[in-house]
Amino acid sequence: MENISPALLEWFYQNRRILPFREDPTPYHVWLSEIMLQQTRVAAALPYYERFLAALPDIPALAACEEEKLHKLWEGLGYYSRVRNLQKAAKIVCAQYGGQLPADYDALRALPGIGDYTAGAVASISFGIPVPAVDGNVLRVFSRLYNDPGVITEPAVKKAFTARVMEHQPPEKAGDYNQALMELGALVCVPNGAPLCEQCPLAHLCAARAAGTAPELPQKAKPKPRRIQPVTLALLESPEGFLLQQRPEKGLLAGLWQPVLWENESLSAEETLARLQAMGLDVRGTRPEALPAAKHIFSHIEWHMGGIALRLPAQAAPAGCVWASREALKTTYTLPGAFKAYRKRML
Ligand code: ADE
Repeated sequence: MENISPALLEWFYQNRRILPFREDPTPYHVWLSEIMLQQTRVAAALPYYERFLAALPDIPALAACEEEKLHKLWEGLGYYSRVRNLQKAAKIVCAQYGGQLPADYDALRALPGIGDYTAGAVASISFGIPVPAVDGNVLRVFSRLYNDPGVITEPAVKKAFTARVMEHQPPEKAGDYNQALMELGALVCVPNGAPLCEQCPLAHLCAARAAGTAPELPQKAKPKPRRIQPVTLALLESPEGFLLQQRPEKGLLAGLWQPVLWENESLSAEETLARLQAMGLDVRGTRPEALPAAKHIFSHIEWHMGGIALRLPAQAAPAGCVWASREALKTTYTLPGAFKAYRKRML
């Protein structure tokens, strides 16, 4: 196949979106944007990106940020391990590299939360290092360009596609080339059915277009079925606010705040009251109101939630819990998106 980069780059320079991390592609900006964009669409991520940088303008500020504030800046984006790893990496960068990301692929790759893709994006976009940055967009473009039915979630297939990506990469424009491929995947060679081939600068080279197979590509492995977990919640309100419980430092939603709950248990109202009593809460004489059922989907788990709401007299919070006022819920404590269905009641 002829080299795709001249046509691709010309298209990119004419059609690329103006994005803040492209206007000022410092290593920190590119790193932050790529981490945010891993599970979030560009339009949804932009306000978070701007707010995050206004609060934490450089890597030393990120390293020094207090945990509650850091979580709050990420509230709504989900997958909070991303922001915890950002900070872990920022601390290492301050300790080992004077607060500046290293201009070296392997050194970047060794930092927490930085995988092949992110190391490649920062190295190529910010430092001009000729390495690949292959995300889902790029895999889709190449699966179609070569009409290759390889299953892109398989490491060997990803490796073979990456080798092809590199055959076309102009070393002096590695960053633009990598971004052009992502942009083509995001704007033209779109997923879920028919791409916009009439707008594609590579249509004349595209084997899937010639074969009519583009809508079926890329081939993906069937996702594993998610584990369903019942969760019982207790939304407790007293004159001091809502009772929040901090999650353990490790695992799902680590360190975030939640209403009192029991995972893997579907408790009746009576059982829930007994559990609350056992935590040391005075729930005598209160009338529980049933909460509406709600679902939340994590990557491999599905929470099926239900439970009760209760009004309690003023009393001390049990260990590991706080009474959070509406104001504190807005400004201080990060309530994960999993509880979105109950958030309105609390605010
Ligand atoms: N998606 C993730 N990173 C991107 C980038 N740098 N350009 C376009 N789309 C992206």
